[in-house]
Amino acid sequence: MSEPSAARPRGPQSAARGGNDVPQDRDTRQDRDPARRSPWETLTGVVRCPVCQDRLEAAERSLRCPRRHTFDVARQGYVSLLSGGKRTVNADSAAMVQARTEFLASGHYAPLTDALARTAASLGLPEDATVLDAGAGTGHYLAAVLEALPGAVGLALDASPYALRRAARAHPRAGAASWDVWRPFPVRNGCVDVVLNVFAPRNGAEFHRVLRPGGALLVVTPTGRHLHELRSRLGLLEIDPDKEERLERTLSGHFVRESYETLEYTAWMSARDVESLAFMGPAARHVEPEELRTRVAALGERVEVTASFGVAVYRAGADR
Ligand SMILES: C[S@@+](CC[C@H](N)C(=O)[O-])C[C@H]1O[C@@H](n2cnc3c(N)ncnc32)[C@H](O)[C@@H]1O
Repeated sequence: MSEPSAARPRGPQSAARGGNDVPQDRDTRQDRDPARRSPWETLTGVVRCPVCQDRLEAAERSLRCPRRHTFDVARQGYVSLLSGGKRTVNADSAAMVQARTEFLASGHYAPLTDALARTAASLGLPEDATVLDAGAGTGHYLAAVLEALPGAVGLALDASPYALRRAARAHPRAGAASWDVWRPFPVRNGCVDVVLNVFAPRNGAEFHRVLRPGGALLVVTPTGRHLHELRSRLGLLEIDPDKEERLERTLSGHFVRESYETLEYTAWMSARDVESLAFMGPAARHVEPEELRTRVAALGERVEVTASFGVAVYRAGADR
């Protein structure tokens, strides 16, 4: 890209109206309490026009670049940067997002949420760090990381409008925008301190471009033992045994792996929780809902399930 690495965008750029709204008027900023400002005050300095790569500024319920490419803020609070109307393959459906919301509320993945927040807090990030969650879903993990980093702001990117509605409300310091992570991100070069990637597609080249040199990438992947009790009985997809190797290959040109930890524990799940777990993942796309419900019911009321994750930290090399 032609733009230089962005200086760390600092300070308010325009006015806040509260919540996650894009601010409208740069001269009438009332609220200087950082905890209550709109995250878009900072995020307008992080995002760029997806059409011409120029800067974006807040306009009436939208973001606009100097060439007047305009991106509306949806009624539900996220910015529609992904225009063209075509649904991105693999974007989560409304039912999957509902299931994910219910499952995450059950607390069975709380140890992972805590581990991610702890890891982010241990990275030595600047106090006013920018966190980008690529494939953020409902914004659950981004919100936990922002809680652990009290001065940081977050940007959730996802292709699912249903997930983005949740992500836009996930945390007062998070903004959300629609994007297909296989395309060049609508984010300026070198202005992100940490990228989160939790069970979501990975675009190593773009992660590297948007991270500042030395910035961190946190990747969560399921290990081969994750949910192994449920896989054959429910028809969940098997975990590719080469997944780790593929991950390394995708990232190795741009990143150095700094650490890798396995987090594994047993969760006792109710039939309802198992149903949400099944419906939030890819099984929802290839097994009929009624069939999936029948298979879950056959497991009984309380099910012992292994949760097993790899949490990796990568550092961006300087080969920009
Ligand atoms: C398995 S979910 C994980 C969501 C979230 N990280 C979490 O763990 O709760 C994968 C997410 O990636 C999103 N997704 C899939 N393909 C995408 C793409 N090409 N661009 C952006 N988001 C995508 C889906 O909509 C979904 O929200």
